[in-house]
Amino acid sequence: MGYPVTIIENKSLRHYNSFGIDVNARYFMALNSVEDIAVLREWLSTHDLPYLILGGGSNCIFTKDFQGLIVHVGLLGRQLVSEDENYYYFKAQAGENWHQFVRWTIAQGGSGLENLSLIPGTVGAAPVQNIGAYGVELVDHIHTVEVVDLESGEAQVLDKEFCQFAYRDSYFKSVSQGRLLITAVTFALPKVAQWKLNYAGIQQQLGDIKPTAKNISDAVIALRESKLPNPEVMGNAGSFFKNPIISQSDGAHLAKKHPDLPRYIQPDGTVKISAAWLIDECGWKGYRDGEVGVYKDHALVLVNHGDATGQDVDQLAKKIITSVEQKFSLLLEPEPRLF
Ligand code: EPU
Repeated sequence: MGYPVTIIENKSLRHYNSFGIDVNARYFMALNSVEDIAVLREWLSTHDLPYLILGGGSNCIFTKDFQGLIVHVGLLGRQLVSEDENYYYFKAQAGENWHQFVRWTIAQGGSGLENLSLIPGTVGAAPVQNIGAYGVELVDHIHTVEVVDLESGEAQVLDKEFCQFAYRDSYFKSVSQGRLLITAVTFALPKVAQWKLNYAGIQQQLGDIKPTAKNISDAVIALRESKLPNPEVMGNAGSFFKNPIISQSDGAHLAKKHPDLPRYIQPDGTVKISAAWLIDECGWKGYRDGEVGVYKDHALVLVNHGDATGQDVDQLAKKIITSVEQKFSLLLEPEPRLF
């Protein structure tokens, strides 16, 4: 007999990664209920193959068929779980769509996540790379992350200190690497709203409109739509590279040579450099090579013009890295994971 009903063979992943790359998974499981976790663990204990937990697939590039098991997390549900003097606590299951969850918290009177509107992907994937935009990161509002340790089967509730959140990084990305399956995330959203409007563009986009969570969310949506391609129309993985973080002295040295370079001093004194600007200066914006290219309105976004392969993407990324290194002596690091 074959495998348990929820695990199938040779499944195309084209609709399971936002870059729209058409590779096959040797095995594929739609994990839609917590009971399925036992099936998954049983499968893992009897197969010596790699596995990968996928949410919206907005942060991975497949360069070849995946010779193991793809676990697509589709756990659904969201609720206002409790409140105290200062916060509302909103919880969502890992498979909820991130943007829909943000809009739902706003409709419930919550605030704090509005700057993170329209980020593609799922709630369960959001902590892995500590998603961030327009001056807000997930770490600012997360309360706890519920996980199941796939080795021991134990369910755990992790607080945010445990998760080691950093710029586009976390314990889940750097240490646990798939061992902990995220099942749900709870956010503590303040009862007294504190708007973050200082990031370039938001205040201008709002104009005279009163800042409310809904209005800021609408402004963020408009800004993102004006700069970033919609992955449902043109495959992409959002920012393809992290913004490099360098020392204060290296920052000062670079600023002398390139006074226009956008740079942002971090709380610890290090300097975050705009990767988009570096790539733009090397002339890549709007570049196209067959099926793969650099988006015409944002140099940090690589795009799929239709039938790009993961190798096309990898080759273009490497060319960009080399040219930025030659011109600025800075090494760009890809943000999505390559498989
Ligand atoms: N810029 C250019 N050329 C371009 C685009 C931008 O020179 O083609 C320069 C501009 O001077 C601009 C600066 O780069 O002021 C920064 O651009 P932007 O505001 O678009 O932000 P970013 O640093 O490129 C980061 C996040 C985005 C997030 C925005 C807004 C990373 C890797 N990316 O991009 O996140 O939406 O800030 O907060 O930190 C993502 O991670 O997928 C993502 C889209």
